[in-house]
Amino acid sequence: DKGNHRHFMAKEIHEQPEVVSHTLASFIDMVGETIRLPENLPFDWAALSRVTISACGTASFAGMIAKYWFERYARLPVEVDIASEFRYREAPLDKGGLSIFVSQSGETADTLAALRYCKEQGQHTLAIVNVPTSTIAREASVMVRTLAGPEIGVASTKAFTCQLAALAGLAIGAGKARGVLSAEEESELVHALIEAPRLMAEALRLEHEIETFSRDLAKAKDVLYLGRGTSFPLSLEGALKLKEISYIHAEGYAAGELKHGPIALIDETMPVVVIAPFDTIFEKTVSNMQEVAARGGRIILMTDEAGAAAAAMTTLKTIILPSMPTILTPLVYSIPIQLLAYHTAVIIGTDVDQPRNLAKSVTVE
Ligand code: M6R
Repeated sequence: DKGNHRHFMAKEIHEQPEVVSHTLASFIDMVGETIRLPENLPFDWAALSRVTISACGTASFAGMIAKYWFERYARLPVEVDIASEFRYREAPLDKGGLSIFVSQSGETADTLAALRYCKEQGQHTLAIVNVPTSTIAREASVMVRTLAGPEIGVASTKAFTCQLAALAGLAIGAGKARGVLSAEEESELVHALIEAPRLMAEALRLEHEIETFSRDLAKAKDVLYLGRGTSFPLSLEGALKLKEISYIHAEGYAAGELKHGPIALIDETMPVVVIAPFDTIFEKTVSNMQEVAARGGRIILMTDEAGAAAAAMTTLKTIILPSMPTILTPLVYSIPIQLLAYHTAVIIGTDVDQPRNLAKSVTVE
């Protein structure tokens, strides 16, 4: 049932404040503002020297974002792999180490094969899944559920933000267990997470404005997405979302990579979506943005009030989000990313929920 929405994807985008809130409630102690890690974990966070994350598509971008969190909040090195590469690479893994698998369906063939490889290598396995009865959920030693509810649209939206919520919780919990975060720092981060659904709801209110930007995007042949830090994997997700439902060619890049190649693509016909919340690396992203502007690139900037003021460029189209703690930006900026792709596809008239050549669950390699 699509409710009042034209597509399942639209419905699922709008459900995010609610389902992210459910997912958060499943592992946050709201009174104490602490993380409740899954009980009886077969490993000790403090004893781990690294974590491996394997997943495909959008789930792998959630894994890439989590890498920044585990490294920052738990000082735990993370390797993120695309499952189809990882499964054949014969990666050396320490016995007793931890491998995390992220999958909405829990049936993705490559992710399942990666899980089986890790088990053979004596790794502890933790799966973040949306379907609790799935093969990956059953075969992993620990299951963490995302409570996104059934996701029908082939383009993943609410499963992604719920994966981010779960991974943020694990990273904070790991940071506390490893003695990296104090009780005060833990509660500060948990407090921030609790704010996510409200901020996501605020971002949804920008839909009309984003739709007008989509009209411009719908005419493009190619679109570039740029970001730094956790906004880099989010730029990969933005590009994937746009290409899979609108069939416009799009690429995501780490903003700092611009001058190592992709800047050659920039001309007056090239929309460039810049994801740049006003954070410690904002200035760096802005200087990349100026390089784009100098070459006539048409910029759509996603930022907050402080970022818009600091960017001080008049030629921009700007989507202004509320300001928020850094840990929340991937969760909240996902909304304009998804809405931009969605409205572009609707304007073009593609089959948004069932894009050509794609299956919701990729059970063959
Ligand atoms: O079910 P999974 O999370 O394992 O699926 C992984 C990818 O196939 C999936 O995220 C795919 O990239 C989506 N179509 C992206 O919107």
